[in-house]
Amino acid sequence: MFDQETPLPPCNFVIFGATGNLASNKLLPALYRLELAGKLPESLNFIAFARRDWDDAVWRDNVRTLLTDKLKAEGAPLERFVARFDYLRGELENPAAYVALKELLAKPKLGACSNVVFYLAIKPGDFSAVIKNLDGVGLAKPRGLHRIVVEKPFGVDIESAQMLNQLLHRYFDESQVFRIDHYLGKETVQNLLVFRFANTLIEPLWNRNFIDHVQITVAERVGIDKRADYYDKAGALRDMLQNHLMQLLTLVAMEPPPALEADALRDEKVKVLRSIRPISRRSVHAHAFRAQYKAGMVAGQQVHGYQDEPDVEPDSVTETFATAKFYIDNWRWRGVPFYLRTGKRLKQNLSMIALRLRHPPQQLFRETPLETLEPNWIVLSIQPEESMHVEIHAKQPGLDMDTRVVKLNASFRHPDENPLDAYEALLLDVIEGDRTLFIRFDEVEWAWRVVDPILKYWAQERDFIHTYPAGSWGPIEANRLFDGEDTEWRNGV
Ligand code: BG6
Repeated sequence: MFDQETPLPPCNFVIFGATGNLASNKLLPALYRLELAGKLPESLNFIAFARRDWDDAVWRDNVRTLLTDKLKAEGAPLERFVARFDYLRGELENPAAYVALKELLAKPKLGACSNVVFYLAIKPGDFSAVIKNLDGVGLAKPRGLHRIVVEKPFGVDIESAQMLNQLLHRYFDESQVFRIDHYLGKETVQNLLVFRFANTLIEPLWNRNFIDHVQITVAERVGIDKRADYYDKAGALRDMLQNHLMQLLTLVAMEPPPALEADALRDEKVKVLRSIRPISRRSVHAHAFRAQYKAGMVAGQQVHGYQDEPDVEPDSVTETFATAKFYIDNWRWRGVPFYLRTGKRLKQNLSMIALRLRHPPQQLFRETPLETLEPNWIVLSIQPEESMHVEIHAKQPGLDMDTRVVKLNASFRHPDENPLDAYEALLLDVIEGDRTLFIRFDEVEWAWRVVDPILKYWAQERDFIHTYPAGSWGPIEANRLFDGEDTEWRNGV
């Protein structure tokens, strides 16, 4: 799955925000796994750009400790990996730091070349300072050679996303921009395309004739950690639903692309977003629901409520739980509700797409114990379990007319095959210049357009938010979104 012209691999990879949460939790472990797999070009150097008053030796020691703790890293591969790094201390807003960066990039090194990846693992509010400062020292050019990776959320609403995009395009070509949504790197998410389009069995069922509704859940046990600075301004709708869950929705709903090429795939995703029925201001209440966690027990541990998390505003009404209902007005999906739900401090970690099929038209079993027969489901579990199955009914052996649910299991990973981390796959794509699994701006723009009425409505309701105890599945009031009386959330695979 490559763009038409596969550019040369980079030989320098600059991580802005190298000591931050994202770099420590996701980027460094993923890059190290690529090192272990022999996927990093031999001549690739990393520059860790951060504020802390460290030098190369302190940085490398920290990376050693981090990777030993997280991945039991040791020996020659670990040393090879840390030796790739230089540490550059600098403030993101300070132009002088970029002069130093330019000098460091010009230092002769093994296999030196001029291709650089700039990875913005920083708060969205800092993107523009970095982009302008890179340009200030001429590092946004030469056009075509460097790549810039921008983390989500891309903007905080449609207007800010457009401004950020204009800014990027002032200095970089679209072919250089990698807008990342790491859910697209998850294997079950990619497998969804294979499941749908490589199996004649599945695709004929995948439409309004057979599907009653679709549920997309991304539930997390974690709270907001030490990210109040970002999260209290973002909330669950911006942090998860507008991007990760909307991306899942597009992959479930899209038509088969003519080819598995970056733009063909993205064209189909945009068509889905454009077909989502706009939510009017008056109907926000019926289409979206938000809530915030209170203190409670998660996995046997007592945890704080959101408002008692460090650095959260005491009266904050930021949502940590968001659900929304969308309709896609096209021939395939007209009338089928798509329910999206995400939350922090919920009962379990569970990311799952579940499609409930319609009841059979004929109630043949009305006079038997099967009167309240559960409908069939197609379930794709993304994490923690990676699995896919279809649930059907079969008769229980015996004299009575009783059934049980049988799972037709299409799980794809063998016990001896290690799961791949989403960032591992996507970072390799950045290095290799494959943009298929990255987001084009019109996808971002349309996704903002879809959630915009909800954002605006919630922004005005500043004095009340529903709550739920940490460790629950969220408030029961969220069920008001359901169309069918027999609809309920599926909370397990
Ligand atoms: C990030 C969000 O994009 O995704 C976090 O900012 C969230 O709030 C995380 O915890 C979830 O990712 P994953 O891969 O752990 O499901």
